[in-house]
Amino acid sequence: MACRAAILISGSGTNLQAFIDRVAAGALDLDLRLVFSNRPAAFGLERARQAGIPTACIEHGEFEDRESFDRAVADVLDEFDPDLIVLAGFMRILSPWFVGHYEGKILNIHPALLPKYPGLNTHRRVLEAGDKWHGSTVHFVTEELDGGPRILQGRLRVCDGETAEQLQHRVQAVEHRIYPEAAGLVASGRAVYRDGEALIDGQPASDPIVQTFD
Ligand code: GRF
Repeated sequence: MACRAAILISGSGTNLQAFIDRVAAGALDLDLRLVFSNRPAAFGLERARQAGIPTACIEHGEFEDRESFDRAVADVLDEFDPDLIVLAGFMRILSPWFVGHYEGKILNIHPALLPKYPGLNTHRRVLEAGDKWHGSTVHFVTEELDGGPRILQGRLRVCDGETAEQLQHRVQAVEHRIYPEAAGLVASGRAVYRDGEALIDGQPASDPIVQTFD
């Protein structure tokens, strides 16, 4: 039976679109049960509707604290007992309660070669540091922001004279390749979370799988 998945977004949803396209092509065995947004204007909701995927939206501003919002989100998700929760540009820090409730089932993608550059403005920071390599990382979510065990990284060389916007564009194209692939590893049971570690093909993976792109 296909892995029941929810995708959580706040914005444009280009990564969501990559999932939709991969599933439609029969190249990713996920049952996309819900696209959830905390922002009603998120264009990703429209992408989901066009693909016939159910949507839900709850605005976080209505809640007095982080955990009560997260519990309301979980009430919606738990209606279909998700196996996998994919954060795709979901611009909310998750409460420890939410992370614990779905332990080992939440994936995130972060636009940097973690553990380098957690947090915001990664492309600008990479250019300022003069790094030769940049990319994106898919990881299991733990309470530590952008700090959970890594599964798959896509890396590319930084070009001379490249702007942060150009770099962001190239990194996003990498994300659209690696995120569905990493989700497929989890959905098939090849990548699992256990006691704060990622296991890939049964082996503790202190380093992620790394793919290099042009
Ligand atoms: C991605 O670049 C991802 O790394 C970050 O948020 C962005 C989402 O973009 N977590 P999109 O909404 O999928 O286009």
